[in-house]
Amino acid sequence: MSEVNKLGKATLKFDGKTIELPVFEGSEHEKAIDIRRLRKETGLITYDPGFVNTGSCQSEITYIDGEKGILRYRGYDINDLAEKCEFVEVAYLLVHGKLPGKKQHQIFSTHLNSHSMLHEDMRHFFDNYPDHAHPMATLSAMAVSLSSFYPELETSKKENIDIRVTRLLSKMRAAAAFSYKKSIGHPIVQPRHDLSYCENFLNMMFRTPVNGYEPDPVCVRALNKLLILHADHEQNCSASVVKMVGSSDANLYASISAGICALWGPLHGGANQHVIEMLERILKKDRGNVKKVIERAKDKNDSFRLMGVGHRVYKSYDPRAKVAKQMCTDVLDQMGVKDPLVDLAQELEEAVLADDYFKSRSLYPNIDFYTGLTYRAMGIPTNMFTVMFAIGRIPGWIAQWLEMKEDPDGRIGRPRQVYTGPTKRKVS
Ligand code: SDX
Repeated sequence: MSEVNKLGKATLKFDGKTIELPVFEGSEHEKAIDIRRLRKETGLITYDPGFVNTGSCQSEITYIDGEKGILRYRGYDINDLAEKCEFVEVAYLLVHGKLPGKKQHQIFSTHLNSHSMLHEDMRHFFDNYPDHAHPMATLSAMAVSLSSFYPELETSKKENIDIRVTRLLSKMRAAAAFSYKKSIGHPIVQPRHDLSYCENFLNMMFRTPVNGYEPDPVCVRALNKLLILHADHEQNCSASVVKMVGSSDANLYASISAGICALWGPLHGGANQHVIEMLERILKKDRGNVKKVIERAKDKNDSFRLMGVGHRVYKSYDPRAKVAKQMCTDVLDQMGVKDPLVDLAQELEEAVLADDYFKSRSLYPNIDFYTGLTYRAMGIPTNMFTVMFAIGRIPGWIAQWLEMKEDPDGRIGRPRQVYTGPTKRKVS
């Protein structure tokens, strides 16, 4: 872990006691008070539901400036990576801290191919799974099952990491495609060594014994960019779950399986599916009346929230949403697809950006607002959108998990609480 910059002390006075706590800053000048001695020296704990003000670790992986709308993976700006790299290269970057050279890229891609098939017994798992199962349930079940099929890899030795990363990346891709084929009653399509990571995914999703499907280069490029946009996002809900599970020394596959479940929630990765369902409802039920849905979102007595809007860290436009918005219109134009939901989404965005309720709370479109519209144009079904988010996020979750494993300050995660329940009483 890189050295931090010590900035002096913060003084806390309470109940006649004074304590001085060290303050330090990271490489991008984020400042923190180190409270590790707080309870021992004052008996006080901090109270911070949702960890809005709490830093759980020091990290060298991803930097976000929420006020300026900046996102960088290992120092590289997201716009640069999305424009110039392949998802496989960004996966390597997140895990290893540097972009792969030609040879490393080739070895990594070879691993992806050699681990791309699912164990036949895993494949038969689908035979007895309900057709209507949500693919996120399938994905989480398949992820944790990998620890049963490949127990030999559960060591923390770094040299295994390329095999574990590529095994997860390629098998989760297969599990996602297989769950889709199962849901529509089509025969599964096995991966091919002559196709790239994204070409393979589209081929496994859409090829049938009779349609001679070939992946459209426009969709391949778009999928590549979308997976890069989703690849990591520092200490978000699902990454924190992956690390919390891993902090008990549970294996990597179990940790990723838990992260998939956390991502599924509509307040997190599940939002991309709920954005489309919200837009379809506005179009069909409210005859495109955007004003009505804006009023509902502002009504404190209504639990409804505008899906794809707002963010814990971004208090400006999510830089990923900017890329996703441009990509959405480009892909639809290039594919000659017309979708009334895109115009509705743009109208809804304009209404949000013009409304004081949202402006005063720094609520802007986030990554989930436009990504679903691009997946939809590519023919990916709505209930697969969060699966796409999960596949993109796998390298980020692994990088965060590995960093936690190697953190000298790392220990099992176990927050405290303020108890407000009944005081001591006897059974009468
Ligand atoms: C992701 O953390 C990450 O990095 C996540 C992510 C990643 O890459 O991993 O970026 C991916 O999860 C993106 C977010 C996807 N979720 C949604 O789009 C769901 C809709 N958004 C909200 O539910 C909400 O904005 C959250 C969950 C994203 C953030 O919640 P916070 O930070 O806890 O904010 P909050 O609930 O405290 O809201 C602050 C205020 C409240 O109003 P007041 O109490 O101040 O009057 O803003 C309001 C909220 O009611 N508000 C909204 C709103 N989001 C916040 N009001 C209407 N619609 C919304 N969408």
